[in-house]
Amino acid sequence: MAVYTPHKIILFGEHAVVYGYPALSAAVDLFARISVIPSRNGAQFSTFVNRTLNYLGLKDVIVKVETQVPSGSGLGTSSMIISGILYHERNYDKESLAREAFEIEYSVQGSGSPIDTTTIVAGGYVLTNGSGGIPLWTVEKDTRKWNFSSIPAKAIDLVIVYTGSKGSTREQVAKVRKFYERGKLAKDVMESIGNITSEGAREVIRGNLDKIGELMNENHSELKIFGISTETIEKVVSLGRNYGYGAKLTGAGGGGAVIILPKDREKLRAKLREMNLMFFETATTNVGIFRERQEPQDLGTQSG
Ligand code: PMV
Repeated sequence: MAVYTPHKIILFGEHAVVYGYPALSAAVDLFARISVIPSRNGAQFSTFVNRTLNYLGLKDVIVKVETQVPSGSGLGTSSMIISGILYHERNYDKESLAREAFEIEYSVQGSGSPIDTTTIVAGGYVLTNGSGGIPLWTVEKDTRKWNFSSIPAKAIDLVIVYTGSKGSTREQVAKVRKFYERGKLAKDVMESIGNITSEGAREVIRGNLDKIGELMNENHSELKIFGISTETIEKVVSLGRNYGYGAKLTGAGGGGAVIILPKDREKLRAKLREMNLMFFETATTNVGIFRERQEPQDLGTQSG
């Protein structure tokens, strides 16, 4: 048996969501296959894998993660692995799974939001702290609170470009906080990102690619003011603006990934290859975490 979990992107609203504004994230059609296999040769794991195994009281196993996406690309890998292990071992309902996976991730990182765990567990478009949509659940931690709802909309194609390194979410969030505390301009930028996100959610429902692209460009320009873009991000975003409907960094910034809403796919592909960057031609998906269908032999039933 194995568990499949989608990777995730943030379409609109990263950083502003830390200050209570809405964000729109989505699961994408790039899945990791996660399995927990009995093994007596105690292998080395990352801290969050160990923490999840300890939480479940599991020993003498190895965790196998199969995905094309490099870890640390800002596309949700750590949340996916934690959720994948939990779902592999226990019969969680989706809400409890998202909640417990977030608690484990938080206990390792000491910061962060439950956006990743909720998005990969629920699938589809997830609106955080926004109005409208179908209510999913609420997660609280210390003084913070995140209200999640699901936005029913058709899938959109996306090209996700990995810039080669992931910026630290904690560092980028701290950088933005310094800027935020300096005064009114930062608050105006946050407000503007909040408006872009609300409008973005409406345009995603309408499936208006021109408008979604335009809003992605605007959102990126606002994020740039925080100083969280990089030279590579800028190069990729400008390609995305030339050969797509729009583009922006996704997640914390300082590296990580860029999302492009593609238009002229051929040219975009050629240019990205010229730049020697890893990219994924994918789409948003309504499919959240799921267990592999068990074949009759796995269930131990007799055939014939
Ligand atoms: O972890 P990432 O790279 O997907 O980005 C997190 C999103 C932020 O808004 C930057 C931080 C947060 O806690 O919401």
